[in-house]
Amino acid sequence: MTHPEQMSLFDLAPELPAPESLVPAPGHPPVTAPPLPSNFNPDLIPTSAAIPIPPGTYPDLPTLTAHCHQCQRCDLAATRTHVVVDRGHPQADIMIIGEGPGQNEDETGLPFVGKAGQLLEKILESVQLNSERDVYICNVVKCRPPGNRVPTPEEVAACRPYLLEQIRLVDPKIILLTGATAVRGVTGNKEGITKIRGQWLHWEGRLCMPIFHPAYLLRNPSREKGSPKWLMWQDIQTVRAKLDELRQDAD
Ligand code: URA
Repeated sequence: MTHPEQMSLFDLAPELPAPESLVPAPGHPPVTAPPLPSNFNPDLIPTSAAIPIPPGTYPDLPTLTAHCHQCQRCDLAATRTHVVVDRGHPQADIMIIGEGPGQNEDETGLPFVGKAGQLLEKILESVQLNSERDVYICNVVKCRPPGNRVPTPEEVAACRPYLLEQIRLVDPKIILLTGATAVRGVTGNKEGITKIRGQWLHWEGRLCMPIFHPAYLLRNPSREKGSPKWLMWQDIQTVRAKLDELRQDAD
């Protein structure tokens, strides 16, 4: 199926700037939407979720980012302050997918910069993973659901083409799915996170691991053996070991 009205967007790609959203974690100034190229035509944006965004639509992350900043595919566009596309390394070996932006993320335009994000940074650091070098971070939905509610299936579906394009363009060795909404939003698996966390899952030829959402760990601070935090520690070590193995295989 061809979509000439969208395909002509590709002509804009060479004029787009570097992805301003790919900047390091907390403490950074708010992200500004990338400036639009002079030949940008807003009529070419698929404003309705009924208009598909097929795989291969975006030649690169900057084009996808510019498009997301104009997106009106679901009701979340009406209440957002910033579209939250990503942070981290665009060719990272590990991609971390969360549920959706919270208040801090909506204000800054960067994913996982609030308390949950700070804990995520600590978890990564504990196994010498660096969020600027080793990981690319994004969410199932790119705009904040009001009151931090769980995004609706319609919102997830409207945003999913962007996520699938991010996965294709970053092409990570490992995908970490934080919490049940991320697992469901990516793989369709509806099982509870407590049941499936820590187990490798093969989806579309990609290696994924469901892990607890850091916000859940903030609500469950015990470090005792068997606690959510303790389990997260096991899981991130499993991920680190697998990454080392995959990097060795690639050498
Ligand atoms: N929780 C998420 O799932 N994503 C964020 O970006 C922040 C908090």
